[in-house]
Amino acid sequence: MKKIGFPLSRFTFSFLFSLLLFIQTNAQINPFQYTIEKRAVGTNGAVSTAHPIASQVGIEILKKGGNAFDASIATQLALAVVYPGAGNLGGGGFLVAHTEKGKSIAIDYREMAPGKASRNMYLDKDGNPQMNLSQHGHLASGVPGTIAGLFASLPYAKLPFKELIQPAIDLAAKGFSITAAEASSLNGNKAAFEKYNTKPTAFVKHENWKAGDTLVQTELAATLTRIREEGMKGFYEGETARLLVEEMQRGGGMISLDDLKNYKAVVRNAVVFDYKGYTVIGMPMPSSGGLLMEQMMKMIEDKEIGKMGFHSKEAVQLMTEVERRAYADRSEFMGDQDFVKVPIKTLSSAAYLKERMKDFVPGQATPSESVSPGKVNPESEETTHLSVADQYGNVVSVTTTLNGGYGSKTVVGGAGFLMNNEMDDFSVKPGVANMYGAVGKEANAIQAGKRMLSSMTPTVVLKNKQPYLVVGTPGGTTIPTSVFQTLVNILEFGQSPLDAVNNPKFHHQWLPDQLMVEKEFPTAVKEDLEKMGYKVVNRGQIGRTEVIQLNWKGKKLINIEAIADKRGDDHASAY
Ligand code: GLY
Repeated sequence: MKKIGFPLSRFTFSFLFSLLLFIQTNAQINPFQYTIEKRAVGTNGAVSTAHPIASQVGIEILKKGGNAFDASIATQLALAVVYPGAGNLGGGGFLVAHTEKGKSIAIDYREMAPGKASRNMYLDKDGNPQMNLSQHGHLASGVPGTIAGLFASLPYAKLPFKELIQPAIDLAAKGFSITAAEASSLNGNKAAFEKYNTKPTAFVKHENWKAGDTLVQTELAATLTRIREEGMKGFYEGETARLLVEEMQRGGGMISLDDLKNYKAVVRNAVVFDYKGYTVIGMPMPSSGGLLMEQMMKMIEDKEIGKMGFHSKEAVQLMTEVERRAYADRSEFMGDQDFVKVPIKTLSSAAYLKERMKDFVPGQATPSESVSPGKVNPESEETTHLSVADQYGNVVSVTTTLNGGYGSKTVVGGAGFLMNNEMDDFSVKPGVANMYGAVGKEANAIQAGKRMLSSMTPTVVLKNKQPYLVVGTPGGTTIPTSVFQTLVNILEFGQSPLDAVNNPKFHHQWLPDQLMVEKEFPTAVKEDLEKMGYKVVNRGQIGRTEVIQLNWKGKKLINIEAIADKRGDDHASAY
């Protein structure tokens, strides 16, 4: 009898193993035919993300016996394939969770300034900021944190990592059908991909992309396979690290092999505060999200906003003034607290927040300080959020990002993943606006190894100590105000999560001193606010919020409702 040699049998085994995983994990997923659902209700688990395939991947992992942490890991990896504008391996993020054992968790896997980064690296010899360098191409990237973040959350998961990453590998290797929105977004970025890449990428083809085309990412599949086989080292060391550093060297970037090897996700103490009996759990520095949320919620807590009514001129004015004050504090005081002292105790104290609202005059705009207003760049705010809940009582809220749409637009040659342009979230020069129009100062100045200030606001709300809401959104600096409005809509105005997510939103960030509103925002309220002295400006959509609401009767979970924002291809799944 002919003996099969070792290399062949190992190959055959590995192939059969992969095939088995593919059949198991993808039993319910057809990446070439899928529909978009905006609301789903179940009793066992729910996932809401920016893409139908990613939400389905999460649900299938729950059905296989995984918990919310398993589903969030598999979903983030799937998003890196099917939602390349923001899902990522080359970016970073934050995870806020509450476990079935009652523990609150915050994991920081924000990108980090490379070892060679320095305070004035984006200034020319005359001290003028070169925002093109902080926003596009190789020099715009911080050291990526996403893979470290996934492994930091793995101890809370139940299934082997190999099973969690397999759907992403299959989607990258075999491809999936893109939506009309994705086709248009890839076409819109074609010139940038051509400009900022040193090697051909899967995102550029000769003809225009159209809905239903298949996107195959062979190099990305190989990178994911290295991560499956070698764990974190499959990204931060070896072949992937070599390809990433070579890409940096070809394009004038700074990230080194040491930067990658030394990157660590950090488990931090979550921001936890009480709002009228609800417990709100959020992300601490280097995200401003949790603290901004605490400041804004606490500044309205004694104002009986529920009685003012949804979108009443009184309620919108109050929330606008609260947003203005919180964002002014963000600009002055907030940054990576491993490097700078952030006066968190003061900024969140009742006495300070009371004082902060002393000059609030109902019916009258408080002008922002006369600092040159930041210019708001129309660059898309392509972060992405996913909310997950399981039947055991675990809830996971993750916001992850490349910063702008497709990040720096640079794909790592041979490795197939996009790099972030997160360095622009630092304050490149005091008082100079970043791409979101946000200005910062010393607290958020660039320093080697420091993490840039974020606005990402993954949030969990408990009611009677049980998980009640899982919320978050993309949107740059509009993130905290979107989450704030979503919570106020549900907790104060009694709205369903569907209405709370889809109703028109508004945003004030201190500078520029203008109230930005979505097109559908009621005209009569806009006019009332203009009479009070506000400069009201129409802008594009604000956020793509994913909410999960868990409904309990005593200690029994009645159902789990998942909502996906109407503003994109976002998809809610439950079972
Ligand atoms: N890059 C967007 C944020 O972190 O706020």
